Amino acid sequence: MDSLEYHAEQLDETFSNLKINTKDSVDSDVLSGSLCSTKLAKAVRNSIPLADLKSKGVFFTGDQLAHEAATSIAQDLDLTSRVLDPACGSGNLLLAITKYLPICSSLRETLITWGQVLYGFEIDSGFVKLAKKRIVLEAINRGAGIDISSLKEAEALLLNIKRRNGLTKTISADIFTHIIMNPPYNSRANTENPLWQKKCLVNSAAIFCYKYLSNCKEGTKFVAILPEVLRSGNRYVNWRAYISSKISGSIELRGRFDTKANVDIFLLSGIASSDTEEEVIWNKHLQDEDSEVLENHFNVSVGPLVAYRDEKKGVKAPFIYPKNIEPWCKVSPRLEYRLFSGKLIKPPFVVIRRTSSPRDKVRAVASVITGKEKVAVENHFIVCVPKTGKVSDCMKLMEACKQSSTNDYLNDYIRCRHLTVSSIKSMPIYMR
Ligand SMILES: C[S@@+](CC[C@H](N)C(=O)[O-])C[C@H]1O[C@@H](n2cnc3c(N)ncnc32)[C@H](O)[C@@H]1O
Repeated sequence: MDSLEYHAEQLDETFSNLKINTKDSVDSDVLSGSLCSTKLAKAVRNSIPLADLKSKGVFFTGDQLAHEAATSIAQDLDLTSRVLDPACGSGNLLLAITKYLPICSSLRETLITWGQVLYGFEIDSGFVKLAKKRIVLEAINRGAGIDISSLKEAEALLLNIKRRNGLTKTISADIFTHIIMNPPYNSRANTENPLWQKKCLVNSAAIFCYKYLSNCKEGTKFVAILPEVLRSGNRYVNWRAYISSKISGSIELRGRFDTKANVDIFLLSGIASSDTEEEVIWNKHLQDEDSEVLENHFNVSVGPLVAYRDEKKGVKAPFIYPKNIEPWCKVSPRLEYRLFSGKLIKPPFVVIRRTSSPRDKVRAVASVITGKEKVAVENHFIVCVPKTGKVSDCMKLMEACKQSSTNDYLNDYIRCRHLTVSSIKSMPIYMR
């Protein structure tokens, strides 16, 4: 038996050890232990290889994050609310929502009531079962008197949590008052979404948000836990504009999802509205249109040479890549030459290393390249050529890269582990 099934059986066993009508003797430590999401996440990781979890987008929402997401939309929740999680996994977000629902006189009555409020879709039937079992145990943990003899019977009362593809065309979101999601982050080929070309690979999370914000009703409370690439990636410019036109809301950066999923996340929350009063500020540094940005003074591009791909033919030129150029210095590269038939760059210019993590002390590590010979620049560098052709402008840029304000800007703009041309182009810089 795999450890996921074992975990489900443990929940069954926990339930069967609880005696009917023994509300007072329920051992809340045992119940809380059974509901612990860390234990469950461990069981899932033991059952399913990490590569499969990544390709299917299966990562559980930690309790604290689930609580924060639920809190951001649940203040007005009542028994007439209809709350959907369209990719509910083992139900952590729905569990967090139940904290805002009352306990009725018995378990049956509580589950009938909760069952009308909570909607969850999930493609994996094993997770659907887990989600239901956990919600039943949570109701008991909160004090619902047990008047049902089997966990299966209790689960059946949560009739709107079901195995279903959350991206099915026929799902209409307009009955929901609240939508909460931590959708999968895997890539999928775009089939019909107008924001991207057909067959182009798109993060599933972008598709989930698009689907539900495009057809929910005005006033629906919405919160989504999303990967950083949607906030800063070039491929999602149109997506951001579309989402901004559909929601009046805000974002909060949250750092790394968890220790296993190597991805930074943010929370998007707000109220669905086509007349958006509060535009989503994806990046607060870009809002000030008057500030001077780097692309006013430099032409920015990625180094044209791809070492493993480009044949050694063409013109013999100095060849630079991050390992043969010292950071934070001004150099005339003469150590290595190679043949290259692509575009050579005429000095002076600045190179900035593309590999860069929010955990680095300095995000944009720069060097100034001078000399008379045109240079073959490898693609691990971003190249900034001053429009004035002056070395002094290059030195100003290198100094600006060291500033904490530049770090703050880049950390806010891009949490991915590499810098993009657009993140460098819009970097605030003072050249006078
Ligand atoms: C990030 S996990 C959600 C975690 C969930 N909040 C929890 O804590 O258990 C994303 C979930 O979406 C499910 N999923 C992936 N594609 C789906 C689809 N098209 N429709 C519904 N669920 C889907 C995955 O099986 C996975 O359980």
